[in-house]
Amino acid sequence: MPNYTGDEYIQYSEEVLPYGSSTCSKAPSVRPFEPAAIRSGKGCRIYDIEGRVFIDYRNSLGPITLGYQFPDTNEAIIEQLNKGIVFGNPADIEGEVAHMLSEVIPSAEKVRFLKTGGEAVAACIRMARAYTGKNHIIQIGYNGWLNSLSPDGPVLPRMQNTSTRNGVPYPLAALHHSCGFNNMPRIEEIVEETNNEVAAIVVAADYATIAEGKTFYPALREYCDKKGILLIFDEIVTGFRVAIGGVQEYFGVKPDLSVFAKGIANGMPLSAYVGRKEVMSKCDRGGGVSISSTLGGEALSLAACKASILAYKKYDVVGHIWKQGEKLWGAVNQLLEKYDLPLRMEGFAPCKTFVVQKSEIENPIGKFFACAFKNGVSLYNVCYVNYSHKDADVAETIERLEKACIDFNNKAYEI
Ligand SMILES: Cc1ncc(COP(=O)(O)O)c(C=O)c1O
Repeated sequence: MPNYTGDEYIQYSEEVLPYGSSTCSKAPSVRPFEPAAIRSGKGCRIYDIEGRVFIDYRNSLGPITLGYQFPDTNEAIIEQLNKGIVFGNPADIEGEVAHMLSEVIPSAEKVRFLKTGGEAVAACIRMARAYTGKNHIIQIGYNGWLNSLSPDGPVLPRMQNTSTRNGVPYPLAALHHSCGFNNMPRIEEIVEETNNEVAAIVVAADYATIAEGKTFYPALREYCDKKGILLIFDEIVTGFRVAIGGVQEYFGVKPDLSVFAKGIANGMPLSAYVGRKEVMSKCDRGGGVSISSTLGGEALSLAACKASILAYKKYDVVGHIWKQGEKLWGAVNQLLEKYDLPLRMEGFAPCKTFVVQKSEIENPIGKFFACAFKNGVSLYNVCYVNYSHKDADVAETIERLEKACIDFNNKAYEI
């Protein structure tokens, strides 16, 4: 490929690639500060096509939990590559990793694999409908593009649907109801409006207010049991991060089904849908629900998942992510206050999120990101620390983000 500048690359890719990216949220929004495209990553740093280096907290929007080119996962992938990628019968590692996940996820009596988080949530919804004989679904948060079906729900993380021509047939949209986190009254209202035709409530945590899960998850569990509704946890962000077993482990509430994806294989494409054996039997022989994908049990990703689980135990990765996250985002909040920026970081340290305070400034998050990129730090709405963010990287990030705060106040951004 020619040696493009960032802007040339964007023009070149967008000639044939809508968004210039197959993941909408990865398309750069604060050029020229943000990378047009990334050439490589190592540890906690990324290197863009213009020769710049950034300390990275986007981490592929969640999946990189150990670090780029992390030796344990890289070696496991290479070892498996030398045996084969995928076969016409299950690779022996598939059963092994299913057992390993069943051990670390509290509700995982049975485990099955797919490739993306959204696909695995769709599998759970299909099984919940078959199990309960009901059709309506309540969704809390974003659960992947495949499941962005409710007329007023999110179509991307933090982005509501605004189109009436979004390709979702109305009869299907009418079965999907979007609801906020920790809003029991609205859930009860929807259940009444549908004459309790609700098969499942799918919950992804709200990262800013995730602490409310302490009372919300038990209340949901009790309510679902009372109404014969299945409880599905979308642990795509929270799994392998808040705790290895996600919010179900952290808050001690077992869902009927749950989905793990992003963080389980340090960036390799793998999702797992897991749960109670009676419900999971729906996708077993004779269960009536066919869920099947050629690459579901692809072995390189499973090898990376196995190596990740072993690394989590060996290095206390969750403890590291909490500790570094608390140190870093605590310091960043102090800087935001010191320089009077209209932003704060809220939520749990492993998935802290930016919240805008009252302000006249338009798009302060975008402007702060521009200043952060300008000073060599790559941020995202949800900021992800990984195991390769060591003390020196955290200290360097704090220094760089102090410069970003100064640049913000000097309006040294033009986006
Ligand atoms: C909470 C949550 N659920 C589901 C998804 C969709 O996962 P995937 O993009 O792997 O389909 C995402 C992706 O950002 C997510 O953050």
